[in-house]
Amino acid sequence: MTNPRRRYPLIAVAVVALASVGAGARWAVAHKEPHTAEQLAAFQEVFMEQVRTGDALFHGDAETEKKLGVKLSATGMACAMCHPYTSDTHPHEFPKFQEQMNEFATLRDMINWCIEKPNEGEKIDPDGPAMKALEAYIYWSNRHSKLDPGRH
Ligand code: HEC
Repeated sequence: MTNPRRRYPLIAVAVVALASVGAGARWAVAHKEPHTAEQLAAFQEVFMEQVRTGDALFHGDAETEKKLGVKLSATGMACAMCHPYTSDTHPHEFPKFQEQMNEFATLRDMINWCIEKPNEGEKIDPDGPAMKALEAYIYWSNRHSKLDPGRH
């Protein structure tokens, strides 16, 4: 049988753990007011605006390219011609080892690879507005895929 005195430290640890969980919960409640429906709608609109911009870029819309100062293709081929409905872009598999580049790559690396190689266009700023919009559109189009990073 366990010596009852040995149990005290365990009980003490449990009490401290429970107390900190409780404190954490109170802290979270105190600092995280639920968002209002209006706020959520505004956040969604910001996101969908990016998705629409990315959609336009993905389909080779010259006006959107001009506005954002990018040239995604020099061949006349838009992303959507090789990737209809963003097929085979596999955003949920990144980051992963990418054979074509022979390196560990993010989705943004691969978007730039496609701009530079098949499209013969000019690489875009990985943190710029065109990249963010393309990323938003590609993720949104694949929103029901299960995350599976590293998959090939
Ligand atoms: C001429 C055809 C063509 C065009 C146009 C094209 N791609 Fe690709 N794309 C490919 C090929 C080929 C691959 C490599 C396929 C593979 O191995 O997964 C690829 C792969 C990708 C991948 C990575 C897929 C993966 O799982 O590794 C992404 C992301 C991607 N393209 C995005 C784009 C974007 C964004 C554009 C437009 C700027 C674009 N592509 C234009 C042919 C094209």
